[in-house]
Amino acid sequence: MDRLFELPLTDWNQPLDSARQELATDAMESGKAVFLPQLAFQFHDEEKKFLTPSWSNGAAKNISYDSSTGKIQGMEGESADKAALASMLQRYADSTTSLLNNIFPRYKPALIRGRTSYRPVEIKGRAAKVTKDDTRLHPDQFPARPVQGKRIIRVFCNVNPHGKGRDWRIGEPFAAFAQKFFPQLKAPFPGVLGLQYLLRITRRRRTLYDHYMLQLHDRGKMDDHYQKTALQSPFSFPAQCTWLCFTDEVLHAVDAGQYLLEQTYLLPVGAMRDPEKSPLRVLERMANRALV
Ligand code: SIN
Ligand code: FE
Repeated sequence: MDRLFELPLTDWNQPLDSARQELATDAMESGKAVFLPQLAFQFHDEEKKFLTPSWSNGAAKNISYDSSTGKIQGMEGESADKAALASMLQRYADSTTSLLNNIFPRYKPALIRGRTSYRPVEIKGRAAKVTKDDTRLHPDQFPARPVQGKRIIRVFCNVNPHGKGRDWRIGEPFAAFAQKFFPQLKAPFPGVLGLQYLLRITRRRRTLYDHYMLQLHDRGKMDDHYQKTALQSPFSFPAQCTWLCFTDEVLHAVDAGQYLLEQTYLLPVGAMRDPEKSPLRVLERMANRALV
């Protein structure tokens, strides 16, 4: 699979030589996923009870943890259990930070840590409305939390205890995808972006970039013909492995799998080695104007 860049790290705190740091940065910024087939996340014995979907409260797809407040959401259980899962997710968050700092020291001063999530529910057969259906190819975007041009990095770890892979498809390069849909996108009605913020529909003000990215996300998912015919390569990420990518750029879909840890980061475009490769700059060239 030519969209993966493999690294043989076996430890979350393992340093990487500078030649491989540069290669990994290049691969990442060229729309590849960095794949760490030998990097697993260990559950402590007393944490193994979390390996069942019944901890999820059903309403949310994922259990989510905010390491800046210590709050856990979407979880069923006693407060002691919530504290125990929160502490495991904190360990995952800290492990991913040390991993990123070791692979991409260039990003370290600018990296912003976001939510941590635990996904104990089987993907296959899970119902979702089309725009929320992650079995359809899409670039990531957050409707309520505009990124205002920043990159989204996600670190995934398949923690399935039964040896089951997480079955992904990786789609075509972002620019090719955007080129197909950009001509159909609509400019926002005057005043609407500010109003959404005023009414607290969004946490921050949606920029034109967020507006267009959200439309790309939705239109791409809603287009059955695109979903069927677009270039896509299946890959099953084995149990006990880790991978990461710019999920705002790498089109992805998940078909099956259960038990995943995921940590989100935001990265200002200016911290990239080559900001011209960002979706922000790609869309600005198509729109012929600034979008943030
Ligand atoms: C997604 O980000 O679209 C879902 C990825 C996954 O849960 O494997
Ligand atoms: Fe996604």
